[in-house]
Amino acid sequence: MTGTGARLILGIETSCDETAAAVVADGRVVVSNVIASQVELHARYGGVFPEMASRQHVRDIVPVVDLALSEAGAAWDDLSAVAVTYGPGLSGSLLVGVNAAKGIALGRSLPLVGVNHIEGHLYSNWLHDDVGRGDPVFPHLALIVSGGHTDLVFVRGHGDYDVLGSTLDDAAGEAFDKVARLLGLRYPGGPEIETLARDGDPEAYELPVASTDSAYDFSFSGLKTAVLRLCQRRGFDAAAVAAGEAQLDEGFVADVAASFQAAVVTALVGRVQRAARDLPAAEVLVAGGVSANHALREAIYSAVGVPSRFPPLILCTDNAAMIAAAGHFVSTRGRRDGLDLDVVPGLRLGDRHSSRLVGRDL
Ligand code: KG4
Ligand code: ZN
Repeated sequence: MTGTGARLILGIETSCDETAAAVVADGRVVVSNVIASQVELHARYGGVFPEMASRQHVRDIVPVVDLALSEAGAAWDDLSAVAVTYGPGLSGSLLVGVNAAKGIALGRSLPLVGVNHIEGHLYSNWLHDDVGRGDPVFPHLALIVSGGHTDLVFVRGHGDYDVLGSTLDDAAGEAFDKVARLLGLRYPGGPEIETLARDGDPEAYELPVASTDSAYDFSFSGLKTAVLRLCQRRGFDAAAVAAGEAQLDEGFVADVAASFQAAVVTALVGRVQRAARDLPAAEVLVAGGVSANHALREAIYSAVGVPSRFPPLILCTDNAAMIAAAGHFVSTRGRRDGLDLDVVPGLRLGDRHSSRLVGRDL
């Protein structure tokens, strides 16, 4: 990958439970994408165990970065910058990636670019592996639906965001994970529920799609409580099933999974439809772990009246290619960070970060 004239950025992502590094050319082409997932480690606890996550990141970060470079066929001198997630996320996990990136920036004399993880998800839609897929057109709507976030954003240009609405309680992915736990399914719950929902009836149970004061905000905690009540009424107890004290009612679980998934999709699509009517969006971009969900994809494609795009499945959940892509566009806006870059666990989209405007391309 040398001598092509492309601007190569190394991305590093450690905000939650994946240790990831990737090399991306010109913010668009994935040259390498390495993800060491900790899912197996955390699955037995039913969710991410922060202290274990940061320790595992420490073990994995150096081999993951080395592999990303070697799979890209890139040498350190081929890189134009190193981009790293500095928030939001788990502070101990973020620190591992930020410290690794600072070490690389210092040791290899590379510009350092701090990236907002949510902005990273947004840029997963700029990545492609075929030349036929052009860049997203501005202005567009972006729906970011992950385990930690549910944001509907009007994007006027690079870095020019208007957050229209967010979740008032649980994130969409978090709702999938919590309902999966109620049903005795493994973490992460989204893929498990999606698979089971294929055998269930989405109209079997009417679950509440919460309305919110603001037309664009979301709320999912009532939905989770409704599933809990439903399980209680039905006498379904996942712990008793796991302990072999009760029979698994497969039909019931599949119907609840399908009905729950349909309610989440209705809530998400309704807000996007309304925003697409109210605002002059050329496209709708969907990103984050929940954007891997096929029921959501089909509903957005068919119900929202403007063209929509989703990332390739591997780029929906956390990865470093999206961080490198965002890093490319952030740095071409003239931003770079110093070695005083710190983690910001509660960072929101549009928050100003510590980077300095250097007024030139890096
Ligand atoms: O983007 P992501 O990897 O991490 C965060 O930034 O939070 O998203 C992970 C979330 C989990 O809650 C997981 O259950 C959900 O995305 N998820 C899905 C699917 N695949 C992952 N939710 C619904 N359907 C899926 N196929
Ligand atoms: Zn994420």
